[in-house]
Amino acid sequence: MSKSYNSLLQKFSSLFGQATSTLHAPGRINIIGEHTDYNNGYVLPASIDKKLSFAFAKNNLNGLVRIHALNLDEYLEFSLKDARPDTKGWLKYIMAITNTFLENDQGFDCVFGGDLPIGSGMSSSSALTCGLAAGLNNLFELNYKPIDLVKRVQDAEAKYTGVRGGIMDQFTIAMGKENQVILLDCKSLEYQYFPLILGDYALLLCNTGVQHELANSEYNTRRSECEQGVAFLQSKGEKIESLREVSLAMINRYREHLDSIIFDRCYYVVKENARVMEACKAMQNNDMATLGALLYASHYGLQHEYHVSCLELDFLVKQTQGMPEVLGARMMGGGFGGCTINLVEKAALDRVIDQLATQYLATFNRKMESYKVAVGPGVFHSQ
Ligand code: GLA
Repeated sequence: MSKSYNSLLQKFSSLFGQATSTLHAPGRINIIGEHTDYNNGYVLPASIDKKLSFAFAKNNLNGLVRIHALNLDEYLEFSLKDARPDTKGWLKYIMAITNTFLENDQGFDCVFGGDLPIGSGMSSSSALTCGLAAGLNNLFELNYKPIDLVKRVQDAEAKYTGVRGGIMDQFTIAMGKENQVILLDCKSLEYQYFPLILGDYALLLCNTGVQHELANSEYNTRRSECEQGVAFLQSKGEKIESLREVSLAMINRYREHLDSIIFDRCYYVVKENARVMEACKAMQNNDMATLGALLYASHYGLQHEYHVSCLELDFLVKQTQGMPEVLGARMMGGGFGGCTINLVEKAALDRVIDQLATQYLATFNRKMESYKVAVGPGVFHSQ
């Protein structure tokens, strides 16, 4: 048992007595397939070894929820019948889940905390919502199957944050397996695990330490731009339901007829879906050079066609292009800040980190955190 997990249990017992259940909810990475999930496309994510841990017990206090956030050293309590959806900070995520899953009299106590960095693009907020939802599912014997729980959490987050997110984060956090990446078809929700075998290479995350304000509003804008693209193609008689069914040849036929911004968004999504399948093939063939080139191509699209990158992310990706030890890099997640994901020669990891951190500090006067990725189990595959 890790030191931090022990202190979590101790905190629980000093505040509330004996915990009756515990669980872990990891963060996630995404190797490739960005902004494809809400377009019914493909993604290639994995759950990581950085996680939030939770301890729970029912409290029989008439629907009172008592929660302590260990990392922030913040304690909050509220009555389920008064839970308001307009709250800020981490309480918003808690209430999104309690309002979705519990009756007014189902009070409980909880302590959570861990080593998953907040706001760095590894989906700490979905680790919080998925961990809490799975914990309450156990505690109150709600009997949700994993996939139904995932869908309800996705809906709850969208409703309470106003961001119309896809299903990748919650799915991965719930269903991830140690040392496996998941090829998820976001249309059928069929999925396949692949062992993460990168030979002499490893995945490295570099955190810009920024999260630009634009992130949420631009996310919804991208989603509606994609919907406009689909509506246009349908109006021309194309039998499609989403960008998933659109081929490169089809989108190219409409290049001159579509609004140029809408064209760029759709063009990116169509090509990114194809890149996910190519990346799977490259991994299966142990072809790391091709995998790296696909990461760079994905970043190019996110920067110039989908327009969800930012100066700091572009800088970190560009710097790696002069480094022979790095085969590929791209921004990861929703964009406008957070991390880049890099495919780096194992033996050169520390040297690459040093160089990037020095260049980043000199340019932005900001510290670059980095994380060597290990793939750990998701909520339903831990313990
Ligand atoms: C965020 C969302 C995901 C996905 C990514 C972009 O992380 O929560 O659903 O859309 O952005 O790929």
